Amino acid sequence: SAGRFDAFRALADRRGRPGGRLIEALADVRAGTADTPGNWAPEVAAGMGLPAAAALGPAGYYADLAAPHGRRHVRVCAATACFAARAGQHLTEAEDELGVSAGTVSADGETSLQTVRCLGYCYAGPAALDGDTPCAGPSLAGQLAGRESPRA
Ligand code: FES
Repeated sequence: SAGRFDAFRALADRRGRPGGRLIEALADVRAGTADTPGNWAPEVAAGMGLPAAAALGPAGYYADLAAPHGRRHVRVCAATACFAARAGQHLTEAEDELGVSAGTVSADGETSLQTVRCLGYCYAGPAALDGDTPCAGPSLAGQLAGRESPRA
C-alpha cells in the first residue's frame, strides 16, 4: 500500500543518518544498470558519505540488488506453488518469449530476467512481475510477450 515505508523513512530522516536512504539509493541505481554491484555500489556509498563496504554488503546480499537489470526487468517466480502449477515450464517459456536466459540481460541491454521466490500471487500462479506489473496464470508467457493483457 502507499506509504508503507513512510514511517521508516521519517525515522531515518529525523536521525539524520547518512545511510538512512542507502537501500533506496542502491535500488534506484540498480534499476538502471546491467553492471555488477562492485562497479557502482562504492560510488553510491561515497555519494552518501559512507565506506564502500556499507553499500557492497547489501548490494551483494539482496538478490534484487545483485541481479543485473535491463531497461525492462522481469521477475519470474520459481517458488513451489508456481513451479508446481506448470512443472517449471513457465520459466522456459518466459525465457523463450523474452529472448533472455534467467539471471542475465539481453545483449542490447533491453531485457533482463530474474527468478524470485514468491511474489504473493501463489493463488494465480505461475506468476511474474513485469517491471511493476503483475502477470499470472496459464497465459503468463503470452502476457509477457504482450499478446495478452497482464493479470494476477
Ligand atoms: Fe509464486 Fe507465491 S509461489 S507467487
